[in-house]
Amino acid sequence: DYNQRARLIAANEAALEFYQSQLTSAAAEPARRFLGERGFDPAAAQHFGVGFAPQSYDATREHLRGRGFSMDEILAAGLAGQGDRSPYDRFRGRLVWPIRDVTGATIGFGARRLLDDDKGPKYLNTPETPIYHKSQVLYGLDLARKDISKGKQVVIVEGYTDVMACHLAGVTTAVATCGTSFGVDHIKVLRPMLGDSANAHLSQLGDIVFTFDPDEAGQRAAARAFAEESRFASQTYVAVAPGGLDPCDLRLARGDAAVERLIDTKRPMFEFIIRRRLAAHDIETAEGRVAGLRDVAPVVAGIRDRTLASAYVRETAKWLGVDIPEVRRAVDAAR
Ligand code: GTP
Ligand code: MN
Ligand code: MN
Ligand code: MN
Ligand code: MN
Repeated sequence: DYNQRARLIAANEAALEFYQSQLTSAAAEPARRFLGERGFDPAAAQHFGVGFAPQSYDATREHLRGRGFSMDEILAAGLAGQGDRSPYDRFRGRLVWPIRDVTGATIGFGARRLLDDDKGPKYLNTPETPIYHKSQVLYGLDLARKDISKGKQVVIVEGYTDVMACHLAGVTTAVATCGTSFGVDHIKVLRPMLGDSANAHLSQLGDIVFTFDPDEAGQRAAARAFAEESRFASQTYVAVAPGGLDPCDLRLARGDAAVERLIDTKRPMFEFIIRRRLAAHDIETAEGRVAGLRDVAPVVAGIRDRTLASAYVRETAKWLGVDIPEVRRAVDAAR
């Protein structure tokens, strides 16, 4: 209910204040080094609310208890987990990013391992709670929301550091999923900001730009999600840096302007996937063309928008150097 929601947000806000205060402690040296090595100065860390969760099983919960939160609230907020004997702080010895809803309220955290001997996962997130649903959460949306609506474009990056790098480089429409693939629930969150309503004309819809390879195993869900959204199928793009650098590494290596240029190199998502698959074959040979066609037919067959699918049948025939009917047969067979 509303009251529980307010309490869980308050607990997250109190935890954030604690984590931020810890970032200047002696023990947070690895956290400050991580930020510095990735091109983030203290002002940037402050702007994004980055903090440090101390290497302790009870420091966070003790702090929160002192602020008047019950153990039930701390557990319900996901800030502590229930151990065999007692609760334990979820985030320990990690750099933490506050994850905020569109109104700017802190609803959870993303946390990165800093020590090599830490056996936990590289990134750890708040688990599902009454206020945190990972399928709907987009890191950075509180900062990006206005510009997404204004510019009618959203840039989807992989991680927290990429969102920071993009915003600092002037790409203020960047958001990231939090420890999960981009999916239909994320589209639902973004859709109204991109101008989609019952009477919106297709040409008024905003662009969606992915900065990671949508054909890689873990990200296939994203491509599928948009393939299923025929209204957005032709507004979905991919911009991948040479060498596959993520925006954070690109900014480090080449500076802010390179991040902005990256977005300008965007290509339609289906073109990107099809050409990338074709590039894996030697289409100078008959065998290579057959294998290439077999590889891309399911991609074209998966395009729900029939007009767009037809256009890609023709494009694929051109890229592959074979007849249009031959591609059409392969695509029909893949349907
Ligand atoms: P560095 O490895 O320090 O360069 O960090 P990075 O920001 O480049 O991270 P990476 O590209 O490995 O991951 C991008 C995003 O994927 C992160 O921000 C997380 O949201 C997610 N992610 C990566 N590793 C894990 C993991 O072990 N568990 C979970 N749940 N999510 C992860
Ligand atoms: Mn809910
Ligand atoms: Mn990666
Ligand atoms: Mn990365
Ligand atoms: Mn990285």
